[in-house]
Amino acid sequence: MTRYSRIAGTGSYLPPRRVTNADLAAELAQRGLETSDDWIVERTGIRARHFVGEGVAASDLGVQAARHALEAAGAQPGDIDLIIVATSTPDMVFPSTAAILQHKLGIALGAEGALAGCPAFDVQAVCSGFVYALTVADSMIKTGAANKALVIGTEVFSRILDFNDRTTCVLFGDGAGAVVLEASDAPGILATDLHADGKHVGILCVPGTVSGGQVLGQPLLRMDGQAVFKLAVGVLEDAARATLAKAGRTEADIDWLIPHQANIRIMQSTAKRLKLSMDKVVVTVDQHGNTSAASIPLALDAAVREGKVRRGDTVMLEGVGGGFTWGAVLLDF
Ligand code: UT7
Repeated sequence: MTRYSRIAGTGSYLPPRRVTNADLAAELAQRGLETSDDWIVERTGIRARHFVGEGVAASDLGVQAARHALEAAGAQPGDIDLIIVATSTPDMVFPSTAAILQHKLGIALGAEGALAGCPAFDVQAVCSGFVYALTVADSMIKTGAANKALVIGTEVFSRILDFNDRTTCVLFGDGAGAVVLEASDAPGILATDLHADGKHVGILCVPGTVSGGQVLGQPLLRMDGQAVFKLAVGVLEDAARATLAKAGRTEADIDWLIPHQANIRIMQSTAKRLKLSMDKVVVTVDQHGNTSAASIPLALDAAVREGKVRRGDTVMLEGVGGGFTWGAVLLDF
């Protein structure tokens, strides 16, 4: 019998501090920078985002999202035999945020207290991180390397924003989303399609690192917004078409498109190219901003909890971001 993977439950978590465009505009004004609710809404569709408080790390958000996903799946932390975290804002240089999160979930130890924890690792593909992580988990489940995986996207992007750069700091937010992906006799995940093109490293990056106890470069987000915009629209269409072709489906089979939540205009262009009505597109960018690797699972969970995405619906998840990376996952929910 063919072995597939399916989403057994979804969860998400947003830090409590909600910052509206007006709040942010007032904060930036104190730095001598001008922006407005009108500009942000018109160019991006963003109305608010959430920011973490001091000392809150990506694993803290991720663990809450994971608990909600476990609850929705009717699973216990001890049932999990694989953890993959997609993040570009890890808690530390190492170990992985996944290992830290595993410990916070209390599943690092075997029943007798022996060292018997499941594999846990991070995936770094910026805003495409969740579709990359889901694809890896799907492959590991299909090969029998795992039975029940936690796949989490979690970000504290506020830590890498330059609040003296109005062209980027108004775009991003913090949050986490998670799914429990489990082995199944029926799909589940129908097809996946991942890509990267490293020649575009410079258009979206955080050009800093650590060496000899010092921070080298500038670990703050830099983006050529227009270059990213143009590339994003093209690759999102290509990835959707490639994934549909692999699954032997067409655009007409898509019940819900859940693209990376970066900019409403990118989502509208993608929907138009795929001849999908915006009624079939899940939009949370207005309330979350761009939460990078967390944006897709956050949007998926919101759509599930609102009763939009239902069991049996065909859902296209699409990520695009720094690297340049992009990809899609087509699934029957
Ligand atoms: O997650 C990874 C994927 N990232 C993305 O998908 C982001 C893709 N890019 C975008 O979403 C858009 O390019 C942006 C939202 C970043 C920018 O929108 P745009 O329509 O490309 O605006 P622009 O860069 O052409 O800027 C238009 C004007 C400029 O002023 P001038 O030169 O026309 O006088 C900017 O200086 O808007 C100005 N501007 C702002 N004004 C008020 C830039 N940022 C702001 C701001 N508030 N925050």
